[in-house]
Amino acid sequence: MIHRFRNLRKSDAVRRMVAETTITADDFILPIFITEGSKLKEEISSMPNYFRMSLDMISQEIEEISKLGVQSVLLFTKVEDDKKTDDCREALNEKGLMVRSIQRIKSLNPNLIVMTDVALDPFSPYGHDGIVRNSKILNDETVDVLARMSELHAVAGADFVAPSDMMDGRIIRIRERLEETGNSEVGILSYSAKYASSLYGPFRDALESAPGFGDKKTYQMDYRNRLEAIREVVQDVKEGADIVMIKPAGMYLDIIREVRNTVTVPVAAYQVSGEYAMIKASAINGWISEETAILESIYAIKRAGADLIASYFTKDVIRLLKND
Ligand code: PBG
Repeated sequence: MIHRFRNLRKSDAVRRMVAETTITADDFILPIFITEGSKLKEEISSMPNYFRMSLDMISQEIEEISKLGVQSVLLFTKVEDDKKTDDCREALNEKGLMVRSIQRIKSLNPNLIVMTDVALDPFSPYGHDGIVRNSKILNDETVDVLARMSELHAVAGADFVAPSDMMDGRIIRIRERLEETGNSEVGILSYSAKYASSLYGPFRDALESAPGFGDKKTYQMDYRNRLEAIREVVQDVKEGADIVMIKPAGMYLDIIREVRNTVTVPVAAYQVSGEYAMIKASAINGWISEETAILESIYAIKRAGADLIASYFTKDVIRLLKND
């Protein structure tokens, strides 16, 4: 026998020495759900142990995660029903919840990287990521609002805007708008290849933003497609995206790898709410071991080629790394 492969697996120390994939706290982006009101910390029914919080409660959370070593957060706000209008004008409210959240979080910890969701679904009575007319989701009208929304977040202090809508041409329009308005130091993390997925259900519970009619297949990608993801990513890089993102993550590892091999910008992957829910649900039932399943899912995403991972398990993973 020439190769005794088991020699590289013989002890924990040897396995660590030859491990090809490593993760650190710096790789993670923590999604945060914010709601109006005070003293609210509401568990999301389909996301056990994950919460939607009012801004006063967010302050404690920011302190906790900063101590833990979280470097970056991705903000989502829940919009009250009476503020959802056809033109999604609340998205451009200078005193809106997103603006106040960015300002508050930046004042609590200026070093925390603040990324903001840029999409219209929380603001739309239809729950769609664009302006709706005659049951159609309008591309160019939507892009115009997204660019202005990005400017608003930039002025409030966001480090990166993260358009999650999948309209065509939005990255160049956002980049141009940021330049024109003196916000050139703000980056764009683009959800470049975002698939129409069954795994977003729990997120839509969190923001009460499920589509009121139809589905999102005219803008989000068809999961049968691989080359199309490359087209989307390459186009976003051309238009000025600083970071490209694949979403969901765990069922799209082939896409992550192919994108990593194709472009030279940082590649992020979003382990979405349904991925979180699946692991949580089986762990709660005692069907899988939670900690090992979390780590395996995260290492798989990293191994596939993701430089950054947005995950609801961010805090768990960092704690596990610390105890390791
Ligand atoms: C909507 C948006 C969604 C997610 C992030 N931004 C849901 C959707 O496209 O319907 C999903 C995130 C998750 O499931 O964790 N712009």
